[in-house]
Amino acid sequence: MLAASTMPTWDEIFREQGYFFLSPHPDMARIAALFRGHGVKRILDVGCGTGRHLVYLSRLGFQMDGLDSSSHALALSYRWLDEEGLSAGLREHLMERPFPYSDGLFDALISIQVIHHNLLKDIVFTVSEIERVLKPGAFVFITVPALRSKPENPEEDWQLRQVENGTYIPMQGPERGIPHHYFTENELCEVFGSFEILEISTDSTDHRCLLGSKRA
Ligand SMILES: C[S@@+](CC[C@H](N)C(=O)[O-])C[C@H]1O[C@@H](n2cnc3c(N)ncnc32)[C@H](O)[C@@H]1O
Repeated sequence: MLAASTMPTWDEIFREQGYFFLSPHPDMARIAALFRGHGVKRILDVGCGTGRHLVYLSRLGFQMDGLDSSSHALALSYRWLDEEGLSAGLREHLMERPFPYSDGLFDALISIQVIHHNLLKDIVFTVSEIERVLKPGAFVFITVPALRSKPENPEEDWQLRQVENGTYIPMQGPERGIPHHYFTENELCEVFGSFEILEISTDSTDHRCLLGSKRA
């Protein structure tokens, strides 16, 4: 196992790399149009990172909230929003702990490449919190990676070590030491089993995307 001192935290990753992603997820324009068409006003971004969707969706007029475990990512989000004359409610928070929001607060929730960074029991708790903070009928749009076959370039081989069924810890690479749960499509639908699943797809970067709505 890796020594704790050699494992980067998300804060260290953001301190080293700065802004992580700049353009929104390729499906976000379509998802935003769907949200708008259904009168969505307030959206929570779970694991908002350096703020690409906070900025994008705020610009479109949605009221945005974001939570993330990295204070540095949140500082970068604040800076970006401020530069654009926008604002959002941001909280430093671990998604495996009860969310700091009241029941049924949000009309929609997005979480892009985030919820898989845990053991399955913690992910199941996160999904229960996602459901709790949404209004009945509210939308959820989630993306998670699929397990790829071994990369041809050995430098991109993270040397994944399995720690439970479907969960791996990379022994090298930028996210070494950080758990990655790789969902099958069926498992993703099962974990979101209390939601109505509206769409399951794979995006251009091999991530599984789930669009659902909280049952009324
Ligand atoms: C790959 S980045 C994606 C960031 C953002 N969703 C985006 O699409 O730009 C993963 C994010 O998940 C956050 N994260 C990882 N584990 C977390 C946890 N346990 N609780 C809250 N946030 C977490 C990281 O800090 C990071 O911002």
